[in-house]
Amino acid sequence: MDKHYYITTPIYYPSAKPHMGHAYSSIITDVFARFKKIDGFKVYFLTGTDEHGLKIQRASEENNMNPSDFCDKISKTFKDLCKTLNLSNSDFIRTTEDRHKKSVQHLWTELEKSGDIYLSKYSGWYSVSDEAFYNDNEIETKDNYKVSKVSGSKVEWVEEESFFFRLSKWQDKLLEYYEKNPQFILPESRKNEVVSFVKSGLKDLSVSRKSFSWGIKVPSDKDHVIYVWLDALTNYISALKYPDISNDLYKKFWPADVHIIGKDILRFHAVYWPAFLLAAKIPVPKRIYGHGWILSGEEKMSKSKGNILDPIDIIDNYGLDPLRYYLIKEVSFGNDGTISKDKLEDCINSDLANNYGNFCQRVTAFAEKNCNSKIPSKINFTEVDNKILNKFSENLTNLRNYINNQKLNSYVDFIVGSLFDANKYFNDEEPWAKKNDIERLNTIIYTSLELIRKISIMLYPIIPDSSLKSLKIFDINEKDITFDSIKDNNFLKANNKISKTDILFKKILK
Ligand code: MSP
Repeated sequence: MDKHYYITTPIYYPSAKPHMGHAYSSIITDVFARFKKIDGFKVYFLTGTDEHGLKIQRASEENNMNPSDFCDKISKTFKDLCKTLNLSNSDFIRTTEDRHKKSVQHLWTELEKSGDIYLSKYSGWYSVSDEAFYNDNEIETKDNYKVSKVSGSKVEWVEEESFFFRLSKWQDKLLEYYEKNPQFILPESRKNEVVSFVKSGLKDLSVSRKSFSWGIKVPSDKDHVIYVWLDALTNYISALKYPDISNDLYKKFWPADVHIIGKDILRFHAVYWPAFLLAAKIPVPKRIYGHGWILSGEEKMSKSKGNILDPIDIIDNYGLDPLRYYLIKEVSFGNDGTISKDKLEDCINSDLANNYGNFCQRVTAFAEKNCNSKIPSKINFTEVDNKILNKFSENLTNLRNYINNQKLNSYVDFIVGSLFDANKYFNDEEPWAKKNDIERLNTIIYTSLELIRKISIMLYPIIPDSSLKSLKIFDINEKDITFDSIKDNNFLKANNKISKTDILFKKILK
């Protein structure tokens, strides 16, 4: 039986070109997707762009373009970024596509049928930047502007006829769901935030707008467009061809295993989305993981703050894999983090160039000279070899659990520790001093080559390109990688050819 895994990024607003925050959400998601792939799962990894609503309409007006052309243009930069970041996404959905519109309108009709939609009038605060409604107690005045206390973004007063979703009706059901599924919202601190928000009382949610037209029309009343968050969240099922729930994609992949999102959009994913789904009798996703922000200075990056860090600049200067490695290792997953050039350069020099790249080169160069560029035969593991090699099989379950519970830093810590141990092993065992004891020399080299193989496989989800370059030493290709094989201490076959590896990472002169 095939095992399936469905993981998503948020779909990005194409209001301006992508920045490091967007790259972060996508890279993180890619790491999990790639891990699950090499661990034998059929993975569906979805990303895309969220193209309706006032935010996009206004951005297109500022650029003197019609919204549709504007979205085509900016959405393409997000799609291109998938390539630049070497994402393994299965699909890229745009909410302006027909497949999505049909799905959203169907969901709307289901919500109407279940009695969860009614017509009334909205009067209250709205943030176009967040596309969110705020209660009076969530607003404060700053520099003469009304802003949301939650996000700091400006709000405006809205008064118009609107359809409402009976969110209040779902309050107890949601609390019950959180209680029964304690791992639904992670990390724990975010879950507590959501639970106390829901406990404080849910008001019905305005889910349509009448004063602008850039959106998906309410099927039963064409004067209204559907609230952009109800529209956007539906992408997670429209990509699986909802409402055709008997098709293979939907059957195999829904409910999603995890929606990776930033902490700023937790309320939409952990409150509104499950409420819509419960109302429409659709299964709820298994997990929402709210990661922290990549800060620029002390603040979240945003177009309005003008403090954007461009991922392409960093990739041009340092390369993609160093950026991916840095974001995974140096940001404590779940919390906010920063990008510092200094730390990025340290990561490259110490972890990537020295501990990993240089180790691969030293071992293969030695094997080339002393083992005729072949995997050595006649080996005899001693206690010290077994000890270092067995660590991987001993930790196999832990490592899988780290990934399944989004404990990325624990996963990376294991790799960093393994690299340290591998270098120490090679230095301590001194194969260059064993030229009179070929069996020992062969065993040290074999063990070191196995360490390269195992660690490269572990690194594959994080730095796929560099890992594949290393695995070329053994002629292992992407499609052949299995995570499970890291438990095998005798995977490499005696007398197979060893190919030399290029310099994997250039050291940065500081
Ligand atoms: N369109 C909505 C999401 C709809 S999902 C059904 C949206 N788009 S966004 O472009 O503003 O943000 C997308 C994601 O990028 C969010 O998860 C957000 O947290 C993340 N980031 C935006 N800036 C960020 C940082 N500075 N740091 C890390 N991630 C942040 O919200």
